[in-house]
Amino acid sequence: MATGITRLLLLAAVCVTVAHAADRSLLTNLRTPYQIGLWGDLPYSDLQATVGVPNLIKDMNSYALRFSAFNGDWKAGSGNSSSTTPSKCSNELYAQCLGYLNSLKAPAMYTPGDNEWTDCDREKNGNYSSRERLDYIRKTFFGADKSLGQRKLSQVVQSEALCIDENGAPTACSENRRWEVNGVTYFTMNVPGSCNNLCDTSPDELEFKARNAANIKWMKDSFAAAAKAGSAAIMIISQADPGWDDSDKTRAPLRDAKNLTQIDSDPDGFFEYLTALREQVIAFKKPVAYVHGDSHYFRVDKPFLDSKGARLVNFTRVQTPGSNANNGNNDVNWVKVIVNPTSREVFNYALMIVPGNN
Ligand SMILES: *[C@@H]1O[C@H](CO)[C@@H](O)[C@H](O)[C@H]1NC(C)=O
Ligand SMILES: *[C@@H]1O[C@H](CO)[C@@H](O)[C@H](O)[C@H]1NC(C)=O
Ligand SMILES: *[C@@H]1O[C@H](CO)[C@@H](O)[C@H](O)[C@H]1NC(C)=O
Ligand SMILES: *[C@@H]1O[C@H](CO)[C@@H](O)[C@H](O)[C@H]1NC(C)=O
Repeated sequence: MATGITRLLLLAAVCVTVAHAADRSLLTNLRTPYQIGLWGDLPYSDLQATVGVPNLIKDMNSYALRFSAFNGDWKAGSGNSSSTTPSKCSNELYAQCLGYLNSLKAPAMYTPGDNEWTDCDREKNGNYSSRERLDYIRKTFFGADKSLGQRKLSQVVQSEALCIDENGAPTACSENRRWEVNGVTYFTMNVPGSCNNLCDTSPDELEFKARNAANIKWMKDSFAAAAKAGSAAIMIISQADPGWDDSDKTRAPLRDAKNLTQIDSDPDGFFEYLTALREQVIAFKKPVAYVHGDSHYFRVDKPFLDSKGARLVNFTRVQTPGSNANNGNNDVNWVKVIVNPTSREVFNYALMIVPGNN
């Protein structure tokens, strides 16, 4: 055990080393605390598009965020023919979202949701080809190896051609991204609702199979990268609520929490994915936050169990609030996370009720 004096001397030595470091990476590797913003499932109405989301962006911009992440669903599930803002999957919808992201001062991350691709084949969304809309998203949002937003952050991109495009040809799942800030690893995966593209209008098993395998590979690569870098924690960001247990049939697929088998009647787009995730989380032995949207209900809990039913104590699910019509049409809020890489839990969460939106 270090005495007070040796600790002081050690601290002095560290300060001297830092002060003299020619290598800037030593400074950026310092594990100082910072804050980030999370949001998703917005806007779902004209009022949210023209008032709620602009208020939210203004609120986020008033904080010194290192970055923000939007976890998908830029519109309601089905288009509204009386809407004056884009509510179908037309190019104007994507232009509107890009405008939101690029009006954020801090680097802005994004992972796609079912409402802007898998469900674009619904008649009320304009009968689009879901694969074509995903190709368009890749072209429009994910052409560069950096974030969106006014300031940009470099990202590692899943660049192997493991997904498939509109014509069934191999293409990169370029929306899958990874980045690191002060000793914490973040990554996104394209995991949408509608059973991960296995249910709802025109399910697409071929597309699912390619992307699911790619996601699992990206997950394993990213855990390995985090372990190699000695990261203090991982945060994963995607859209779907895959269902972790059998407790909440109004919001997610029901699943046996021990063997992970889905126990309701929908096709299961998440079994293999969750099985792989569980192995990675157990082996990592440090905090893992899993951020998703989908069911529009803010919560932070620990729903993931091992095969014997013991809680994975280092795993936290964070569900962003999203549009909640039951609480007024302009209920547009976000989650601020204080990230302290040297604290035991690393992530601390606060629901930010946006001024003017309630
Ligand atoms: C459709 O949009 C109009 C105009 O914004 C709105 O008044 C109406 O409530 C919306 N309908 C639904 C079902 O959300
Ligand atoms: C969408 O497809 C359906 C079924 O094929 C068809 O009946 C409908 O007219 C189409 N709607 C539009 C807007 O193209
Ligand atoms: C998983 O658990 C459920 C009970 O919740 C059971 O019905 C099912 O047979 C189990 N599946 C496997 C593969 O063990
Ligand atoms: C949970 O994470 C902490 C580090 O924050 C580690 O010391 C502990 O061993 C982990 N627990 C498990 C069960 O992996």
